[in-house]
Amino acid sequence: MAALASRRAAAVVLAVAALVSLAAAAGSKTGQVTVFWGRNKDEGSLREACDTGLYTMVIISFLDVYGEGRYHLDLSGHPVGGVGADIKHCQSVGVPVSLSIGGFGAGYSLPSNQSALDLFDHLWNAYFGGRKPGVRRPFGDAWLDGVDLFLEHGTAADRYDVLALELAKHNIRGGPGKPLHLTATPRCEFPPAGYLKRALDTGIFERVHVRIYDDADCEAYWHTAWDEWTAAYPATRFYVGMTASEMTHGWVHPKNVYYDVAPSVQKADNYGGFMIWDRYYDRLSNYTSMVKPYA
Ligand SMILES: *[C@@H]1O[C@H](CO)[C@@H](O)[C@H](O)[C@H]1NC(C)=O
Ligand SMILES: *[C@@H]1O[C@H](CO)[C@@H](O)[C@H](O)[C@H]1NC(C)=O
Repeated sequence: MAALASRRAAAVVLAVAALVSLAAAAGSKTGQVTVFWGRNKDEGSLREACDTGLYTMVIISFLDVYGEGRYHLDLSGHPVGGVGADIKHCQSVGVPVSLSIGGFGAGYSLPSNQSALDLFDHLWNAYFGGRKPGVRRPFGDAWLDGVDLFLEHGTAADRYDVLALELAKHNIRGGPGKPLHLTATPRCEFPPAGYLKRALDTGIFERVHVRIYDDADCEAYWHTAWDEWTAAYPATRFYVGMTASEMTHGWVHPKNVYYDVAPSVQKADNYGGFMIWDRYYDRLSNYTSMVKPYA
């Protein structure tokens, strides 16, 4: 009898806790959804992605070679010619467009202050407000809205902090131009690798997208990691990064986005929204259409 009563009491406590967390969630939704674009030629154009009305930011991926004086943009076979016009179109419908550096290749590193300053110089002149003879602008005179760090490897020597500080100086607060959204998209592991931690510890990152998919540890422990991330960087907005592909490890059923992911992440005051990987899978699955109401 006593055991049953205490189990009932526990159930009531759980139910109340669930109500409280749902109430908190309802208060802090943002409706923000960021998507990655550029990883598959068959995902449709950047303009189409923006015209869906689903996304509040699009991140072009990746600038996948840098650090040794060479730079390379990999758009998975998308014709680069029309992208500049598409960027302007996205911006005109209120969707900022950012560029992610790094990715899954081996062609990048940033092993000295000078290489970080050189990368800044390249980014600024090729994609932002700068102009420099000899620096080609792949997207013409389109002026991007941000830089994202998507780093799958690095060493203790890498100076992403120097890059971040230099980019911040060119934010609207630091000079003429427009806001430059500085973001990072790490795996969920906390604390992050030293080269990323040193950059984030500058405290100037606007957003971090924490990937909770495609990594066994993240799938199992992301709730704990999320709490650590959001507590460590209170001035940064945190986005929960989910995959739109049911075939990818760590995919979360939309029902569980509603019952678990959204209420869990929205407990944080600095919750920012959802990040969806990526436009190609999203176009096939319509995942964002299903989960956006919970973002
Ligand atoms: C690199 O830049 C950082 C930050 O500005 C500075 O603290 C450090 O002394 C520099 N290192 C070298 C080797 O110049
Ligand atoms: C996704 O939406 C598109 C357009 O509304 C539709 O044609 C397609 O069948 C949907 N796909 C899935 C898997 O629901």
